[in-house]
Amino acid sequence: MAHEAARFAGDWLALREPADHAARVARFADQLAEWLRDRDRLRVIDLGAGTGSNLRWLAPRLDVEQDWLLIDHDDALLAMARQAPVVADAGGRAVRISTRCMDLGGLPRELFDNAGLVTAAAIFDLVSKDWIEALAGRIAGCGAAALFALTVDGRRGFVDERGRRLEDERDARLEALFNRHQQRRKGMGEALGPEAADVLPALLEKAGLRTWMARADWRLDAGQAHTPALGAALLQDWMQAAVAQSPHDAAWIEAWYRARRADLERGRVGLVVGHVDILALPQAK
Ligand SMILES: C[S@@+](CC[C@H](N)C(=O)[O-])C[C@H]1O[C@@H](n2cnc3c(N)ncnc32)[C@H](O)[C@@H]1O
Repeated sequence: MAHEAARFAGDWLALREPADHAARVARFADQLAEWLRDRDRLRVIDLGAGTGSNLRWLAPRLDVEQDWLLIDHDDALLAMARQAPVVADAGGRAVRISTRCMDLGGLPRELFDNAGLVTAAAIFDLVSKDWIEALAGRIAGCGAAALFALTVDGRRGFVDERGRRLEDERDARLEALFNRHQQRRKGMGEALGPEAADVLPALLEKAGLRTWMARADWRLDAGQAHTPALGAALLQDWMQAAVAQSPHDAAWIEAWYRARRADLERGRVGLVVGHVDILALPQAK
């Protein structure tokens, strides 16, 4: 999970990967595959790639030879990506990967040379509006497509055994505290937090790209096998962020955390975390 400098543990990324993959909008990959139909080779840049989860989901859905450049400021995560099994594209060919350890605070133009696709997953809550504007300009400048997955949009809450949202005043206060905490600086300017879900498509459109957005929520159903482990990690991060945001509320926040964690472990509640996926394509010629 992240601390202020936006470092993430590899075991957290591994824990969330199945939920990320289940949430993603498959029709955007199909739409992208259709747009790429006449290409025989594709250079892909994955921003904030971590251990390569985005590559593992997307590359097998595209029937084109692919060269992926995975970029992250954490070389330990990139090392895990290098050591992971080779991924095959939709035609069965091995996808080539290279990695670059760098801080993405700047977005050097040469990074985008010959890029056909710029992609990222779960990073836009960490970045600023100026950063997105610069990125959208780079994408428009190189004529690439963009697929940006799993941007949190600020909706998070509990559901009952039948998947119905629970309305609870303390949950709502915790949701608001968490969202405010997400807007601290995280290394790429003043972090947008969940506002990124609105700002990103608007700035891609402004840069001249055709843009589509759809919900890609995590649904951790009550009583499902994976819910307690991922749910407990989420709750802990949520509680810590809320306490950091409002230290004088620590006592009731910690009591809330213990109660909700017990609910999750007993299979009495599940969790929904709102995300959006965004596809952007250059204007048709
Ligand atoms: C939530 S993780 C997502 C990782 C990966 N995209 C995935 O879907 O599993 C955010 C990633 O952004 C990277 N990151 C955060 N700030 C960064 C920065 N300033 N420069 C480069 N990478 C950064 C982190 O190291 C981490 O791998």
